Amino acid sequence: MPAPATIRRAVPGDAQALSTLAARTFTETFGHLYPPQDLAGFLAEHYAVERQRTILSHPDYAVWLLEADGEAVGHAAAGPCGLPHPGVAPGDGELKRLYLVRGLQNGGHGGRLMRIALDWLLRDGPRPLWVGVWSENLGAQRFYARYGFARAGEYLFPVGATRDLEFIMRREP
Ligand SMILES: CC(C)(COP(=O)(O)OP(=O)(O)OC[C@H]1O[C@@H](n2cnc3c(N)ncnc32)[C@H](O)[C@@H]1OP(=O)(O)O)[C@@H](O)C(=O)NCCC(=O)NCCS
Repeated sequence: MPAPATIRRAVPGDAQALSTLAARTFTETFGHLYPPQDLAGFLAEHYAVERQRTILSHPDYAVWLLEADGEAVGHAAAGPCGLPHPGVAPGDGELKRLYLVRGLQNGGHGGRLMRIALDWLLRDGPRPLWVGVWSENLGAQRFYARYGFARAGEYLFPVGATRDLEFIMRREP
């Protein structure tokens, strides 16, 4: 029987594992949407090891890894809200990433990561929280709605030369 998947807060030494996992899960989820050069450029920029190390070293950000049999198989990231919406105020929080590898989806692990991220985001008390989600990712939108997020706007998210329509969801304090 496989060992149960565990969750822990990621540390700067996890930068390489996080970079590899984030590129894998983004590609599994959205890779088919983009020309290969757009995807490769996006992954190289956003999931570079050094960029992960910077995030992991920053006190305003937190990342959690879901691990099974010693391998990172999911992650969540949270921090200050950077979404382009006029309602975003200084001090608002954002769920920045939530991804599981394909074989582990739909088993409740996303909910576990979400609750840990929400606890951290609300550690100093209630505040508005935000998340960006691809307009056609209906499963994730349903998932976020169950945790109190509702659609509040939209924007175009660049992946190379491609522009994706992203919905912005907000969770009231
Ligand atoms: C979205 C995600 C984190 C949810 O975690 P999970 O462990 O699968 O979810 P849970 O088992 O706690 O809850 C199941 C719900 O998750 C959502 N979900 C399940 N598989 C999904 C998938 N492949 N893509 C998007 N959402 C999915 C659905 O809302 C599902 O409920 P449903 O019965 O109404 O369809 C996870 O499915 C995932 O990593 N999906 C692919 C990556 C992704 O889309 N991330 C969000 C980017 S904004």
